[in-house]
Amino acid sequence: MLVFLSTLLLGVIGKMNVYMVPHSHNDAGWLETAEWYYENKVQYTLDNMLDLLDIRDDVKFVWAEIYYLARYLSDFPNRKAQVIEFNKQGRFEIVGGGWVQHDEATVDFEMAIRQTEAGFEYISRELGINNVKIGWQLDPFGHSSLTAALFDKMGLEVLVFSRIEDSYRLQLQNSSNMEFIWKPQGLGSKKGVFTHVLNDHYYSPGFLTQLPWETQCYGELPANETGVLNCIQAVEEFVYETSYKYKTNHQLMLIGADFYFTDRNFTFQFMDLLARVSAQSTNMNIKIATASEYFDAVLASETSFEVFGGDLLPLVSPGYKGQTSYWWKPWTGFYSNKPHIKQVMYDTQKLARVAEIVKTGWRNEKIMAYELDMCTHHDAITGTMREPVYYDYLQRLENDQQMLLNQLGLDINSIMTKQSSSNSQLMVPYKVLFIINPLNWPVQKTLSFEASSEFVRIFDTTNQTIPSQTVPYLNNYKAYFVYTLQGLEIRTLFVSEYANQCSDCSTISQKNTNQVIGNQYITIGLDNGLLTSLKTQKNEFFIAGKIVRYDTYMSGCYTFVETEPAEIICTLEEFYHYTGPVVEVAESYFSHGKDTFIQRIIVDKISDNFIMTFYVYAERNDDIFYRFYQIYDRTGWFYTFNTANLQKRYFDFNTLNKTGHNYYPITGGLVVDLDKEFMYIMPTFALGAGMPFENVFELGLHRHPSYDDGLGVDYYSGDIFPVEHHWMIGFSSLDYNSIWSRFLEYRSSPIVFFNTLNDSLTLNFTLAAEYTSTPEYQPNYIFLNNFDCAYLSSLVSRNGSYVFRVLNKCDHQIKVDFKNEYHEINAGGLPLTEYKAFDESGKLELNTYNNSWKNVMEYPHSSETDGIRPYELKTYMVHATGVMSKDIMTEKINKGEDSAVMTVLALASVVGVMVAVGALIKYRKGKKFNEEKGLKGEFLEN
Ligand SMILES: *[C@@H]1O[C@H](CO)[C@@H](O)[C@H](O)[C@H]1NC(C)=O
Ligand SMILES: *[C@@H]1O[C@H](CO)[C@@H](O)[C@H](O)[C@H]1NC(C)=O
Ligand SMILES: *[C@@H]1O[C@H](CO)[C@@H](O)[C@H](O)[C@H]1NC(C)=O
Ligand SMILES: *[C@@H]1O[C@H](CO)[C@@H](O)[C@H](O)[C@H]1NC(C)=O
Ligand SMILES: *[C@@H]1O[C@H](CO)[C@@H](O)[C@H](O)[C@H]1NC(C)=O
Repeated sequence: MLVFLSTLLLGVIGKMNVYMVPHSHNDAGWLETAEWYYENKVQYTLDNMLDLLDIRDDVKFVWAEIYYLARYLSDFPNRKAQVIEFNKQGRFEIVGGGWVQHDEATVDFEMAIRQTEAGFEYISRELGINNVKIGWQLDPFGHSSLTAALFDKMGLEVLVFSRIEDSYRLQLQNSSNMEFIWKPQGLGSKKGVFTHVLNDHYYSPGFLTQLPWETQCYGELPANETGVLNCIQAVEEFVYETSYKYKTNHQLMLIGADFYFTDRNFTFQFMDLLARVSAQSTNMNIKIATASEYFDAVLASETSFEVFGGDLLPLVSPGYKGQTSYWWKPWTGFYSNKPHIKQVMYDTQKLARVAEIVKTGWRNEKIMAYELDMCTHHDAITGTMREPVYYDYLQRLENDQQMLLNQLGLDINSIMTKQSSSNSQLMVPYKVLFIINPLNWPVQKTLSFEASSEFVRIFDTTNQTIPSQTVPYLNNYKAYFVYTLQGLEIRTLFVSEYANQCSDCSTISQKNTNQVIGNQYITIGLDNGLLTSLKTQKNEFFIAGKIVRYDTYMSGCYTFVETEPAEIICTLEEFYHYTGPVVEVAESYFSHGKDTFIQRIIVDKISDNFIMTFYVYAERNDDIFYRFYQIYDRTGWFYTFNTANLQKRYFDFNTLNKTGHNYYPITGGLVVDLDKEFMYIMPTFALGAGMPFENVFELGLHRHPSYDDGLGVDYYSGDIFPVEHHWMIGFSSLDYNSIWSRFLEYRSSPIVFFNTLNDSLTLNFTLAAEYTSTPEYQPNYIFLNNFDCAYLSSLVSRNGSYVFRVLNKCDHQIKVDFKNEYHEINAGGLPLTEYKAFDESGKLELNTYNNSWKNVMEYPHSSETDGIRPYELKTYMVHATGVMSKDIMTEKINKGEDSAVMTVLALASVVGVMVAVGALIKYRKGKKFNEEKGLKGEFLEN
């Protein structure tokens, strides 16, 4: 029937054009380390294909992972000229072009940009390639609307992938929508990306593989004439059977698999076969092509495509044949799998961003965190690899952290050290502490560091004491103090430790066991050490916290399959409540088997939110969650923020007892509607959160699946690392300005560093150098003037110019201007490209578990084209030399002209939501800061 229909269709639209695109998918580590793959596989693939490109004009090849290409060209620099030449000839195409193929569920927009920019920078610098058109995300485990938004901003016209929720795939196939325009709004994405879902996986069709269970059309290689004719027929049949899924008379056929074309004889003989198939085909026009040749033809075909605006996470794929749908595999376990690497990744990203800003602003030099880039790979940050590979990634990240601390230390010491003028004079030994505000607007924050004494004195360069409070912390103490910083300011402070109480030393906390903790803005009630109520100035919310575990008999490092309902675990062993002038801390020690989990709730005096930390480790067969029971009975109360879009996720009764299906990655944050206010939870690193029941949500803390889930890793994969989650929890309104502000406030909170003897930095107080002579440091240094709306997402140095990436976090249009000559570039750091608008035909709705794009919270519309639209990300290259001037960038706000209104599209509860938004508390206006000090107006008091 399908064949018949297709034949009819072909009669109408004409002869089919088949584009065989040779590729190799090269994981930067998975079952083996990246280095092993390079040595044993990848270098041969590149050798073989470059030799073939050299001797045969009819061969073409596409390449995605720049990490491997850079590695190869550093070993074989004589190959560079060939790569450049074949690229110019349109026969060797860079697709994707990132350092690796990053995971989409666990990285935020800045990590995704970083790794893509690293690849783009390499190909531009070394190969003169300044344009990548095709996004190539063949393997990641589900696709985020963040990717589509970002790729649009990076000048990628097309996105190609294979893994999509199975029911979506069926719907797309049956409606000929396997190609659509993906147009999320986040980051100011406007045009969207033309999205191609691969027919099946990213492998060659079965008859063109070498897989033993398939029948090869060519028989044996080298193929004889019969083999060639068989293959032509097989291709034609394949196209007849599959072309109905796509709209045009062009068909893409990827030729390759993981680490393909490594065997020289196979590669030569197989490519010869493809060339003969191409030369001898008559019914169809079959050719060896690059990806661009195919997409150029499709986009020139005057066909219109439907538009999708939602998210494609989670990924649910069928289990093994013969099993009921219950055993379908939700690829949601990796959202919280091996949480330690996720934490290290986000810590390193925060350091890298700051180190780049400092290096660029002070020296106009480039700094690259390539190991961080590598670990955005979809088998690294995801935790879906074998154990030795895991340790390899952790070692790489540690190397990057050390490199960043060294570089930053050298720069900061060079900025902050004064020429010694006075005679050195012996002092009480002190350590040098630098604080950096990574945000380019003023903040007032409660900061802390771990000290070994209860008595510390914190003082500044004028010997003024900064009041502080120490709280017992494990075998040490944490010293807390409040500090105000200008945007992108570095401050110098000093710390002395004393054995006994001193006049200006920290206040020692009072200890009690009262399970109510709070400040004038928020009161937190605990029961058995766990959350039970939250009270704001207006409302009290009952929200019971429990720690639960699932068995992992059916789960693995990729998947989370619930086999039995979760069981409530943990007994409270010890509880302490510390009070003092700076913070209150509630510390709960829980036991679970032989493990101890530690929850801390930290409330300072100045914030309308609080910090919750949870230290946890999962034993084998434990999948551990922090569960919240909310009593507010409403549908559509759970929102996830992926740093591009806020999307409402519904509980669906079809997912009862299948929690793994109703489970989402939280890269930016989680917002839950508690009837009168919206509670947000902003994590410092990505994790998963789901709804097991209608009024219950839970966050994945740690997991240790017992077995392999049959998706490739093949072994039980251990994890010896505990993790400590850090969440900022509070209440806000449901609008992008509040959510972005809260997210940035916490993700980019000030960092406290200590100096070491060799002018490096450390985050560990114990490792800090101790000095005894008079300190010779500048009190502070400021890189940029303060901004209201323009968040400086990154500042990097490229070819002696500065690249400013700016996100407008306000709901009105702004303009930024630069003192020096500048021009706009794309978010990936390459020149802007203008593509023809896509031909759109109506909206594409995908409905599974109700997570369609109707549930995406809409960004304000703006008619203006000049400047930066609300929540838009723009990138500028600014020509400059030497030390950056503070006023190089300025911001102009067009208030009122286009005061756009947030709307929630087509929600059944739209009225309810709008009323709730209207009734929300307004942010309290904070203290008015001193205008003379250069602070602009008012800002939020936390
Ligand atoms: C062509 O090769 C296949 C094996 O690949 C073999 O079975 C067949 O006999 C060959 N045909 C001719 C005509 O040589
Ligand atoms: C590859 O081909 C060469 C030349 O045809 C031959 O000598 C060699 O044995 C082949 N190698 C393999 C592994 O088949
Ligand atoms: C700095 O302040 C401390 C405490 O107030 C004081 O004991 C010390 O003498 C001062 N040091 C100098 C160099 O003034
Ligand atoms: C889900 O689990 C609960 C608790 O074990 C059980 O009572 C209920 O019948 C299950 N529901 C479905 C649809 O399987
Ligand atoms: C800080 O360094 C000391 C000494 O190397 C070490 O014992 C301690 O565990 C470190 N603390 C942290 C939080 O890493």
